[in-house]
Amino acid sequence: MAGLRSLLVCIVVVAATIVIPTSAQLSASFYNRVCPKALPAIRSIVKQAIFHEPRIGASLLRLHFHDCFVNGCDGSILLDDTSSFTGEKTAFPNANSVRGFDVIDDIKNAVDKACKGSVVSCADILAVAARDSVFLLGGPDYEVQLGRRDARNASVNDANRNLPPPFFSFSQLLSNFQAHGLNLKDLVVLSAAHTIGLARCTSFRARIYNDTNIDPKFAASAKYNCPTTGGDNNTRPLDSTTRQFDNVYFKALLQQKGLLHSDQELYKNNGTDSDKLVLKYSRNSESFEKDFANSMINMGNIKPLTGNNGEVRLNCRKIN
Ligand code: HEM
Ligand SMILES: *[C@@H]1O[C@H](CO)[C@@H](O)[C@H](O)[C@H]1NC(C)=O
Ligand SMILES: *[C@@H]1O[C@H](CO)[C@@H](O)[C@H](O)[C@H]1NC(C)=O
Ligand SMILES: *[C@@H]1O[C@H](CO)[C@@H](O)[C@H](O)[C@H]1NC(C)=O
Ligand SMILES: *[C@@H]1O[C@H](CO)[C@@H](O)[C@H](O)[C@H]1NC(C)=O
Repeated sequence: MAGLRSLLVCIVVVAATIVIPTSAQLSASFYNRVCPKALPAIRSIVKQAIFHEPRIGASLLRLHFHDCFVNGCDGSILLDDTSSFTGEKTAFPNANSVRGFDVIDDIKNAVDKACKGSVVSCADILAVAARDSVFLLGGPDYEVQLGRRDARNASVNDANRNLPPPFFSFSQLLSNFQAHGLNLKDLVVLSAAHTIGLARCTSFRARIYNDTNIDPKFAASAKYNCPTTGGDNNTRPLDSTTRQFDNVYFKALLQQKGLLHSDQELYKNNGTDSDKLVLKYSRNSESFEKDFANSMINMGNIKPLTGNNGEVRLNCRKIN
């Protein structure tokens, strides 16, 4: 009898201690207890991958952006197509362009080994790999908010609708960012992710042949490897220090040397708030680094799946 009563008390106490988190609240310490080795394991693979190919840091940063802008930071970009959905990989902004999926697989394997199980989500891996890439290429280090869970579906149409194309005007870019809960400062400072990485000819052809707010020598040099027809896949660095995360991107905009039309839209030299931010960041790399880190956290907070929503995928390319 006494045994039964204490068992019941015990059950009540245990039940009261199980807290099911319902709010979409992320936390920097999410994996501290369950797997303190998770973040060092991610950084170590990112470091190896960048050593092997410096561009991969840019590619990993862009994967997190393209993940977050399509139904939130939920790892949906990593899903391969299935019979029940066509995923995001074949959407126009992603096809023949986004890369780094093999590195994400390597990270997932290393993290699951370090954690002795699948506890770290693919969405969180993207957020941490983006931060580590920025840091390892000379940019700011910052605490990544964690606890995102992974989506169980994906949509090619949602990717086409939500990712901004390089031919967007300033007002289209701003509306796109605002639709994702981000503001002008986020737009300007996050666009400086183009301080690293490459773009294909097809992404900047219209700019170098038809835009008038472009430095003529810069345009001529870009045309050399990007003819009016053909050579769609030929690449060119997005700024002149493509392996260094620095504020040269903004200095280039002041000289009308933005490679993408969307880049130069941020600076027209006619006194807009966007112009003022470009000018400030071109002169002050500390404020650029501080604001970039802050805006990365804002972007990383877009509609995460938390609590019992979504899942922690075993394989980042497939739902469980
Ligand atoms: C503001 C709107 C943006 C537009 C229109 C845009 C567009 C593009 C385009 C067209 C490319 C070249 C793709 C190719 O030709 O294969 C590119 C590359 C890149 N983007 Fe953006 N982007 C934007 C914002 C961002 C943001 C917010 C980030 C990250 C925070 C980002 C990170 C990158 C990186 C790192 C690359 C180089 C990737 C590599 O070398 O693999 N972009 N972007
Ligand atoms: C560009 O590269 C992709 C593979 O990444 C290939 O499928 C496509 O045919 C190439 N396009 C051109 C014009 O060479
Ligand atoms: C994914 O599924 C959920 C619930 O079934 C649904 O609300 C959501 O719209 C779907 N998202 C996509 C991208 O299809
Ligand atoms: C430049 O503009 C002209 C006229 O609008 C258009 O026919 C041509 O295709 C454009 N060129 C590029 C490379 O976008
Ligand atoms: C700045 O210049 C661009 C074109 O050069 C124009 O479209 C825009 O309206 C101008 N903005 C202001 C505030 O003058």
